[in-house]
Amino acid sequence: MISEETANALRSTAKAMVASGKGILAADESFGNINKKFENLDIPATEDNRCAYREMLFTAPHIGEYISGVILFDETIRQTASDGRKLTEVLQASGVIPGIKVDEGVEKIGETLETTTKGLEGLKPRLPEYFALGARFAKWRAVITIGDGIPTDGAIRENAKQLASYAFMCQEAGLVPIVEPEVLMDWSNTQEVCGSVTERVLVAVFEELNNAGVLIEGMILKPNMVVAGKQSGVTSTPEQVAEKTVALFKKVLPNNLPGVVFLSGGQSEVEATENLNAINKVVGTPWKLTFSYGRALQASALKLWSGKSENVQSAQAVFIKRAHMNSLASLGQYVGE
Ligand code: 13P
Repeated sequence: MISEETANALRSTAKAMVASGKGILAADESFGNINKKFENLDIPATEDNRCAYREMLFTAPHIGEYISGVILFDETIRQTASDGRKLTEVLQASGVIPGIKVDEGVEKIGETLETTTKGLEGLKPRLPEYFALGARFAKWRAVITIGDGIPTDGAIRENAKQLASYAFMCQEAGLVPIVEPEVLMDWSNTQEVCGSVTERVLVAVFEELNNAGVLIEGMILKPNMVVAGKQSGVTSTPEQVAEKTVALFKKVLPNNLPGVVFLSGGQSEVEATENLNAINKVVGTPWKLTFSYGRALQASALKLWSGKSENVQSAQAVFIKRAHMNSLASLGQYVGE
């Protein structure tokens, strides 16, 4: 059981993470992921370059107006900016809350296409260290793949149990858990199938969160939007995405959940903004509905930066533009580029 003091701190952090007009920057790419992105742009995959890239993002002017929190990777939370401050202090100085990815990636269940997530073992003692390093929230990503005969109920249940164990441990350590069950958007399925799979997943996740005694007011959900799979050749319109996504949430999410922060999941930058905007035009939702984008906030900025200090200002401008557009979308006030 967590103390009332811890519960209140979790409630207030969760509220701040989804403050009006703000969302989260997911900058927690693991070594493999960020290095691949760098290599595609001929940027040497060094520790210094990873630090310089994150410093470029975190020192972008006005970041605190649009970004409530940043999810960091283990390496990044320990790194120092060029002016001698810790990157976490750079964020805090702009009113941005540092967070930390604590999962260790996915692994296959036997020879199947389904996965569970690594990192639960030994997680508990790591959390107080992250708190001491400045983190006030955490992230754990479970991946659910749609395909022939999958996802199975067994894989959904196992991932839901892992998310719940992680979330409970985080709350004990004073960290708000971002609970991310990502249903991949890649296959040839219809939007209806995405909706029914996402429903099975969210129902199981909230059953397990409740079984584990997780404080719902002290957590944030990071789900996918309900969209047709990429390989279907169909692009769901923003209105279709909004209608199906919000209808599902009204059916399955508890009203006392403070907020939902969407992943972008391979949508283009503008698509992710348009969809979020349409979602926020639907009235009568009890939760904040905002963004926690990785690719949809960073793709153009990374390309423009390309590892060169002379590109810092223009890359920052592009990043802040996306943050601003998504801030407007989180209020249903985006009117185009
Ligand atoms: P994308 O927005 O690129 O999907 O990344 C968000 C994230 O943090 C996935 O875990």
